Amino acid sequence: MKSRHRKTKQEPLACLILAAGKGTRMNSVKNKVLHTLLGVPMAAYPVERARDIGAASIVTVLGHQLEEVAKVLENRFGPGTITVVEQKEQKGTGHAVRLGLRALPTFEGLVVILYGDVPLLRSETLQALVDAADRTGSLAMLTSVVRDPTGYGRVVRDDTGLIREVVEHKDATHAQHRIAEVNAGIYAAPADFLRKATAKLTPHNAQGEYYLTEIVARAAASIGVVSVHVAAEETAGVNDREQLVAAERVLTARLVKEHGKVATFRAPRDVYVEAGVTIEPDAEIGRNVVLRGRTHVGAFARIDDGAILTNAVIGTAAHVLPYCVVTDSLIGDGAKVGPFAHLRPGTELGPEVHVGNFVETKKTRLGRGSKANHLTYLGDSIIGEQVNVGAGTITCNYNGYEKRQTVIEDGAFIGSDTQLVAPVRVGKRAVVAAGATIVEDVRPGVLAISRPPCKQIDGYADKLAERYADKKPA
Ligand code: UD1
Ligand code: CA
Repeated sequence: MKSRHRKTKQEPLACLILAAGKGTRMNSVKNKVLHTLLGVPMAAYPVERARDIGAASIVTVLGHQLEEVAKVLENRFGPGTITVVEQKEQKGTGHAVRLGLRALPTFEGLVVILYGDVPLLRSETLQALVDAADRTGSLAMLTSVVRDPTGYGRVVRDDTGLIREVVEHKDATHAQHRIAEVNAGIYAAPADFLRKATAKLTPHNAQGEYYLTEIVARAAASIGVVSVHVAAEETAGVNDREQLVAAERVLTARLVKEHGKVATFRAPRDVYVEAGVTIEPDAEIGRNVVLRGRTHVGAFARIDDGAILTNAVIGTAAHVLPYCVVTDSLIGDGAKVGPFAHLRPGTELGPEVHVGNFVETKKTRLGRGSKANHLTYLGDSIIGEQVNVGAGTITCNYNGYEKRQTVIEDGAFIGSDTQLVAPVRVGKRAVVAAGATIVEDVRPGVLAISRPPCKQIDGYADKLAERYADKKPA
């Protein structure tokens, strides 16, 4: 759910995001939460979720590489959107929350506690948690039932099913180790309760940490506790690279499932799709296709195997053949590109344009129906409608100091193996003969030939054979 407004009555909402750890198991010079999933830093995921549920304040508790993490979040969400609190020493989740709450000294609404390394949590789940806290005035917590609860805090309930406390794995009894319901660590509770409850924490436990989980027993004895069930997959933390890519696969699968309601994915498990991608009905996506950034795939478009599209806008019924790389470019309705074409930033193909194999374009516009079908480089050029660019045509757009422009007007025909030395203009319906080197403007409607005369030497083949009479042709 993408609503940025709260559906229920209550006071404003604040989110605390705990991310002070380094993430040692990532074995990286970079903080764990700076690693990306689908092109987005892990740390940004809980911030997005906080925004989805309409949080008025977002506080992150950072420690390791605080500056770097804060910078990445500021670049993404804008200065002042997120309050950063430093936790120098990691004394436990309870300590982190206590510090985070200091950034909200007068806040009286609900506080939601999230983590920097839990990118799979859905907004709908979080909204359900907030609604439960709103409705009951209690501490609401997410819990899962898992096959192997090792390592997790166990949810201890009384005979009537009410939650009494959470016991950490290391502090649990034998009997408690058998409890399959585990604490996800994600809570929503009134700010004043959290302030009071975290002020009283002590580190007298197996790990010598200030456990946030102690607030559960305190709530049970005062405002009450309610749980909201969540699939374990959603609250799984990302600790190493294997879990990072596994989580990325889950995110991809969700997006493909959604897009797959209207578009056909020929190999849904073998594609990469980022969250900003849009796909219109009846598009077809092949195997190993990569769709990045704000790529848009139009209705009835076909993206064949291995195409890599970044911020590409693909028109209605356009066809991108296998192994094309398209970046920051537009492909018009009904256009056909590839296989093996490279459209670099600033390419704009009009409707029905054909760009074939081993063609590279950059900052180049091709008008309706124009064709460049083979082995060509078109850079810094403006090409009109119904132009035919022959095989092996090269725009010589760079003189070592600056990029210069080539203009080819409507209906012109550029013969194969032509070099267009920019700046240069080829007029309407002009014909450039194959093999030309064009260094001056070509007038409309003319035939331009630049070609050394062809000499023909009689009897040459026989002479050559005579000279090498003792050798067989290789
Ligand atoms: C916590 C819960 C446990 C729950 C589990 C779910 C506690 C005591 N236990 O255990 O009941 O089942 O989550 O995954 O809360 N962090 C800080 N500062 C700190 C300590 C932690 O920012 O001082 C951050 C870490 O960066 C980490 C997160 O909080 O991302 C979780 O901390 P961690 O100590 O790993 O808690 P768990 O052992 O997973
Ligand atoms: Ca731990």
